[in-house]
Amino acid sequence: MIEGKTVLTGVKPTGKPHLGNYLGAIKPTIEMGKAAKRHIMFIADYHAINAQKDAEILNKEIKEIACVYLAAGLDPKKSIFYRQSDIPEIFEITTILTAFTPKGFMNKAHAYKAAVDKNVAAGKPNDDGINMGLYTYPVLMAADILTFDTDIVPVGKDQIQHVEIARDIAGAINAYYGKDVLVQPNYVADENIAVIPGLDGRKMSKSYGNVIPMYEDDKTLKKAVFAIKTDSKPIEEPKNPEEVLVYEVYKTIAPADKVAEMADGLRNGKLGYGHVKNMLLDAIIEKTAQEREVYNYYMAHFDEVEQVLAEGAEKARAIAKQTLKRLKNTVFGF
Ligand code: TRP
Repeated sequence: MIEGKTVLTGVKPTGKPHLGNYLGAIKPTIEMGKAAKRHIMFIADYHAINAQKDAEILNKEIKEIACVYLAAGLDPKKSIFYRQSDIPEIFEITTILTAFTPKGFMNKAHAYKAAVDKNVAAGKPNDDGINMGLYTYPVLMAADILTFDTDIVPVGKDQIQHVEIARDIAGAINAYYGKDVLVQPNYVADENIAVIPGLDGRKMSKSYGNVIPMYEDDKTLKKAVFAIKTDSKPIEEPKNPEEVLVYEVYKTIAPADKVAEMADGLRNGKLGYGHVKNMLLDAIIEKTAQEREVYNYYMAHFDEVEQVLAEGAEKARAIAKQTLKRLKNTVFGF
C-alpha cells in the first residue's frame, strides 16, 4: 500500500516527546517511511507559533524534536527532512488555497470547535483568545501536504479531519479548472498501533502529566517507571497480568518471549511489582540507550543537525517550486 507512494508527515514541536509518542508515532512513522517511494518528514514550526510565543522555548523544542527523529533512526539520505519555515513556497501556496477554501470548513474544524466550546463552557465570548493561525490551521496543513503531491499521510485519529480538508481543497481546485492540478491525499490511521498507557493507566499524554520520558538518564527513567500505579498485592499472590499496568506498558516495548515470561511470573506469584518494574526499566533502557547517546550527541552538535535540515530544505524547495509554478500557471495563466 505504501510502495510507490509519496508519504508525508509533519510534527509540531511541542516539547520533548515521551515514550508514548515514541512507540505510538515516531517509530511507526519512521518505519512506514522506509517502505515509501518518497518519504517526507518535517517540523511544523509555523503551526507551533499559534500556541507558543516564547522564542527561546520554541527554539529548544524545535531542536529537541529534530534530534529525537534523527536519533530514532530517520535517515536524512532517504527521507527529506526539513523545517516548514525554511520553505517559503508553502506559504505562497497557502494563500492560493485560501481562495478555494470555504470558510465553513474552518468553522467545522475540530481544533477550532474545541477552543470555542472551551470558551463557551467558561462563559467567555466564543472566539476569546483564538488567533487566526489556529482558525486557518487546516489550510496551512493542506499546503504542507499538497505542496509535495502527497499520496498518503499517516495520522493519529485527531488529524484525520485535517487530511480530509486537504483532500477537499485539492478536489475543489481540480474541479474548478477541470484538470488534475493537485494530488488528492489519503490518510492512514494505523489501528494496529497500540495506545501506550501512562503512569495512571490513562493514555500516556503530557496533558495528563502521566508520561515516561524519552532519552533521559537511567535515574530519571527509574523514577518514572517506579511511579506506575500498582495495588498492594504481595509478591506471592497470583495476579492477572491484564490487570497489571506495568505489564500493559511492558507489552508495548518488550519482545514476545519476555512478555510471556512476565505474564507467567505474575500469574504464579513469582514476580512482585518491584520485579516487573525493574524488568520494564531494563526493557526501556535496552531499547533506547543507544539512541539516547545519539540524541545527546546531536543536541551538543546542533550545527550538524542544521546542516542536515538545510540539505533537506534544498530538496524540499526543488519540489515546492514546481508545485507553486504549476499552481500559479493554473490560477494566473502565466
Ligand atoms: N497538525 C499536525 C499535528 O498537530 C502537524 C502537522 C502539520 C502535519 N502539518 C502537517 C501532519 C501535515 C501531517 C501532515 O500533529
